[in-house]
Amino acid sequence: MSLLKLLIFHPILMLSAFTGTADGYYEYTSLDCVYSISDYSDMVFLVSYSFNKAVYLQFNSSVGKYIGYTELGVKYAENANKDQARMQQEKAAVDTYCRPNAQVLDSAVRDKTVKPKITLRSAREAGGSRPAMLMCSAYEFYPKKIKVSWLRNGEEMTSDVTSTMEMADGDWFYQIHSELEYTPKSGEKISCMVEHASFSKPMITDWDPSVPEAERNKIAIGASGLVLGIIIAAAGLIYYKKKSAGRILVPN
Ligand SMILES: *[C@@H]1O[C@H](CO)[C@@H](O)[C@H](O)[C@H]1NC(C)=O
Repeated sequence: MSLLKLLIFHPILMLSAFTGTADGYYEYTSLDCVYSISDYSDMVFLVSYSFNKAVYLQFNSSVGKYIGYTELGVKYAENANKDQARMQQEKAAVDTYCRPNAQVLDSAVRDKTVKPKITLRSAREAGGSRPAMLMCSAYEFYPKKIKVSWLRNGEEMTSDVTSTMEMADGDWFYQIHSELEYTPKSGEKISCMVEHASFSKPMITDWDPSVPEAERNKIAIGASGLVLGIIIAAAGLIYYKKKSAGRILVPN
């Protein structure tokens, strides 16, 4: 069965109802194929009918029938579940619709994923009443869909987080940046968590509040310069002393 057939089969797909108020109403149907295992053994097919934000009727292939979530939804479910032809088609969709489409999409997208390069740095030190700011960036990843979040001792932080949209680098890769404003407390662990199709599990980067490497390098270069300067100055002083000592040897 082609995708087209399936769409025709669901007659009220993406039907925007009349606008009775300034905001209007939104009636829509979505078909989802949900899976996380590459052999598709955990594939689940969902047909969800929604009004505004609420799903009122849903077919879930693991359940094998329609379930209604509102009074009207329950009535629709009863009718749909009695329709043999329809149920046969819905139950077969995991094999006829989901698996073939997943294969095509995976070869086009998932098999071409590129892992983001993640950096976590201090954007601003805490000072006075101003909280500190950390910046977590992910660079050069594909595909675009990504989630960057912040954890404090393993718990997701939701306030004081600002995030940019994914930005196209213009070469098929994307980047994204997320900032966290926070007041450092001793003993806590702040981490940046990145979820992306290229990872089998979320990638967690812990913030190291000690002097970062770039700063360490600057300090090391500065210190080396200082030592070198002292050596040259000392050498010059010794040379000068010897020269002037030689002159002093000449009796008046
Ligand atoms: C589909 O049904 C199964 C079994 O009841 C359930 O575990 C799963 O969460 C359902 N999926 C969705 C997206 O509701």
